[in-house]
Amino acid sequence: MKTIIEPFKIKSVEPIYFTTFHQRKELLRAAHYNPFLLKAHDVIIDLLTDSGTSAMSSAQWAGIMLGDESYAGADSFFKFEAAVKKITGLPVVIPTHQGRAAEKILFTILGGAGKTVLSNTLFDTTRANVEFTGAEGLDLVCAAGKQPGLIADFKGNIDLIALDTHIQQLGADNIPAVVITITNNSGGGQPVSMENIRGARAICTKYQIPLIIDACRFAENCYFIKMREPGFKNHTVLEIAQQLFSHADMVTMSAKKDAFANIGGFLALQDEVLAQQFRNLLIVTEGFPTYGGLAGRDLEAIAQGLEEIVDEDYLKYRIRSIEYIGDKLSEQGIPLVLPTGGHAVYLDAASFLPHIPRHEYPGQALACALYLHGGIRGVEIGSVMFGKYGKDGGLISPPLELVRLAIPRRVYTQSHMDYVTEVITDVYHHRNTIRGMKITYEAPMLRHFTARFEMLG
Ligand code: F0G
Repeated sequence: MKTIIEPFKIKSVEPIYFTTFHQRKELLRAAHYNPFLLKAHDVIIDLLTDSGTSAMSSAQWAGIMLGDESYAGADSFFKFEAAVKKITGLPVVIPTHQGRAAEKILFTILGGAGKTVLSNTLFDTTRANVEFTGAEGLDLVCAAGKQPGLIADFKGNIDLIALDTHIQQLGADNIPAVVITITNNSGGGQPVSMENIRGARAICTKYQIPLIIDACRFAENCYFIKMREPGFKNHTVLEIAQQLFSHADMVTMSAKKDAFANIGGFLALQDEVLAQQFRNLLIVTEGFPTYGGLAGRDLEAIAQGLEEIVDEDYLKYRIRSIEYIGDKLSEQGIPLVLPTGGHAVYLDAASFLPHIPRHEYPGQALACALYLHGGIRGVEIGSVMFGKYGKDGGLISPPLELVRLAIPRRVYTQSHMDYVTEVITDVYHHRNTIRGMKITYEAPMLRHFTARFEMLG
């Protein structure tokens, strides 16, 4: 088989600025050992996120010039609405300035004290928006999803038995929604199967609970369904997406991922009565219902991006390019979440640095080491992002301690990724010299964004 090449040519480029080890040592110290606090200019390969970092196509840039900036009823809105309806089949489409704005509106109406939102895994902003209302979020990912090294096809699935049991225990009236995140970002970018979505749908119907799909990376998820799930090989990714969304009552999406846009999101749903409540909030916080916090040109870029994302030559390249990094690291025995997911490679920091206990944040230490040694910026997804304090003040760690290297869409080439694997391999060989970290400042919510650290002696 021949190399699977990037299915695009590059028309416009941005410079990368290089730094030395000694410069990065100082820059990291000044950023309080939190890669979020580094300047992007000082990063060589930026794998902090795949969100809003895509390279737009020439057709998207052309769309930017077509943007209709009318306050109400702009042409660009109708193009956007048609693109979302084509994929989701849902009749109501509400634009928002990004995914979390859709979540904020959704849970302000659905959430509240005493309620519990059940999920395969809530992303951190989704959880924060649930908890901000006084409700709780509970993750019920399947057993395979908790074992980083275990090879399985759909490690993002929700545990359907646990879902049913929790609904019975908590009472259906106290569950305002079940949220399925596709792909499961916080659990390694792992896909959810159609069968699992159907199962969740049946349980939600039985207890009359709305099923919400967090669709940020729906195209990557649907490509995995095509490749791995029996019965889908001859379906297009668009058809698979349409079938998948036919099971949802509502969909939230950050268009910063699988719509190749730099900003934007939406909420789409069946229920016109609920939609009216959402729109009332939208007008207060986002804007008029035909622009929802976005410029007309953003709506154009999203509409075009949603057409491009279901292109299977693109998706084949996308999924293979992530797998390529995973293969190279696995050859060196480097522990990571396997199989590789849709948008990122997740290093298993707990196994990478077994000498650093969880309360000394091995994920954070590894993220810092990657920057120091190669100017690579990734993000900790572990005890810093999801850790909680128990009644005795001790840290309660989440099941996995990961460092995510998220790959921006259509931005980096194979040689950039070869460099990344070389740096990680180098760090792996020196892993015994890496030390743990301690937190010196943290915010009460979403602490990972602004926390400050010190390296332990
Ligand atoms: N849901 C998922 C699964 C996400 O990954 C994100 C964002 C959101 C919701 C929120 O969307 O950023 O547009 O408000 N994830 C980014 C990331 C930030 O780096 O994974 P947003």
